[in-house]
Amino acid sequence: MSFLDLAAQRYSVRTYSGKKVEQEKIDLILKAAQLAPTAVNYQPQMIYVLKSDEALAKINRLCRCIYGAPLVFLVCSDERRTWKSQTEPGYSAGEMDCSIVCTHMMLEAWEQGLGSVWVRLFDVAEVAKAFDLPPYIKPICLLPVGYAAPGAKPYAPWHDVYRPIADFTKEL
Ligand SMILES: Cc1cc2nc3c(=O)[nH]c(=O)nc-3n(C[C@H](O)[C@H](O)[C@H](O)COP(=O)(O)O)c2cc1C
Repeated sequence: MSFLDLAAQRYSVRTYSGKKVEQEKIDLILKAAQLAPTAVNYQPQMIYVLKSDEALAKINRLCRCIYGAPLVFLVCSDERRTWKSQTEPGYSAGEMDCSIVCTHMMLEAWEQGLGSVWVRLFDVAEVAKAFDLPPYIKPICLLPVGYAAPGAKPYAPWHDVYRPIADFTKEL
């Protein structure tokens, strides 16, 4: 499948079958996370693989967007490792780096026949506390992953309604 075909086919899966995700597929998704470009290749991502009943129960209590997925990646930025701008005091590339990492993971999951959904609807402080994260580990997003339930489809009817390219580009 070409990259653009994969990108066009992927959608956010919000209903999962009960089937567990095989460890080999988890490893491939983590490989995609490893290969992601990050600022200066500092690789500040720290990824918690939530798959125990206890961890899943915890994240389900804190976030209503897990949708019954049997596996959730909690993608965090290790702020000790992020690139900090010399020209813009206070700027750290952690969120941008982790967004690229998570995008790689989401697309690799699809390549493996798995659905996922990017989730940001949670309280960072609550999640950090619940998983006992050190202060330099900043939760960026969640990626619930699993096999789509039969009949799963994009949630929004406007899922594949895209702005024309000319609408969001300007040649200078
Ligand atoms: C930064 C970001 C945050 C998101 N947060 C949530 C979320 O908290 N809950 C949710 O169900 N979907 C969330 N989504 C998924 C988007 O709603 C979804 O990607 C968008 O509607 C496009 O639909 P599609 O992924 O099916 O193409 C998020 C996506 C992004 C990129």
